[in-house]
Amino acid sequence: MKERIEQIRKAAAAAIENAEKMENLNDVKVSYLGKKGELSKLLKGMKNVAPEDRPKIGQMVNEARAAIEEKMKEKVDVIQRAFLEEKMKSEVIDVTLPGKHLESGHRHPNQIALDDIERVFIGMGYEVVEGPEIEYDRYNFELLNIPANHPAKDEQDTFYINKDILLRTQTSPVQARIMETGRMPIRVIAPGRVFRSDEVDATHSPSFHQVEGLVVDKGITFADLKGTLQQWAEEFFGPDTKVKFRPHHFPFTEPSAEVDVTCFKCGGKGCRMCKGSGWIEILGCGMVHPKVLSDCGIDPEVYSGFAFGIGLERITLLKYEIDDMRLLYENDIRFLKQF
Ligand code: DAH
Repeated sequence: MKERIEQIRKAAAAAIENAEKMENLNDVKVSYLGKKGELSKLLKGMKNVAPEDRPKIGQMVNEARAAIEEKMKEKVDVIQRAFLEEKMKSEVIDVTLPGKHLESGHRHPNQIALDDIERVFIGMGYEVVEGPEIEYDRYNFELLNIPANHPAKDEQDTFYINKDILLRTQTSPVQARIMETGRMPIRVIAPGRVFRSDEVDATHSPSFHQVEGLVVDKGITFADLKGTLQQWAEEFFGPDTKVKFRPHHFPFTEPSAEVDVTCFKCGGKGCRMCKGSGWIEILGCGMVHPKVLSDCGIDPEVYSGFAFGIGLERITLLKYEIDDMRLLYENDIRFLKQF
């Protein structure tokens, strides 16, 4: 009996020693300490032991049980520690590794120019409004005093969706939409995308941007238009900028003008940028035609106004001395990064 207890103790110790995982330890527990385990079996054989030896044997069995339990507890510790160490190793963070570089974008040169234009007009009390890119012929042409036989209505220039609906060729229809609301006075700029059926080249694109301006109130004169654009040019292009108004024709303004500014590269002396003239053309403008006012529900006897239209790309190309409009649309990061 004594040898058997000793055997069981050794076998259990060896099994515990060999256990690698908690499950192995559990198996050991069942087969040695469990109800049907080796030690229990041994106790069941006590009836064959002489009564005077039984307490002794019982004590030995208890000691064996305690010893095995003790060993198991130690092994549980070892296994748990090993598990933790393994986990720590696999989850280790190497703080010396180079970080992930997050590329952050920035505004497109067109957007930078637009923000600058808006900033100046907002400073003068203008509101920034928008109109639809898909527009009625009525707003794009009719209400702007552009009759059906006007060359701009030629299908060559305009993307028609059907006979009444088109992709707006200019931001000027926003003028009509604003005037129609009847809210006075009007002091707005309306930036946005416009479309023309043009082939792509260094100065043309079927889609580009304009910034429309419109002021309508009592007593607005050409002097207000001149003062406003002079002020804007000084703030946008630099304090020494001069503006020049050249007579021109637009169907929706009367009188109309094209505006040049002194070349901001050479200051007016003449250079490659201004083609030697010292002046650069930047926009079209004029006093809102009385017929346009009345067609939009405004009494031209009471109110008057001025309007202007800036080609955004033109300004962007000039400002950043970019010589090909296509660069603005190709989205080549190497190009865009420079601004
Ligand atoms: N809409 C004109 C164009 O696309 C530009 C323009 C000229 C707008 C004169 C105006 C203006 O508001 O008064 O060529």
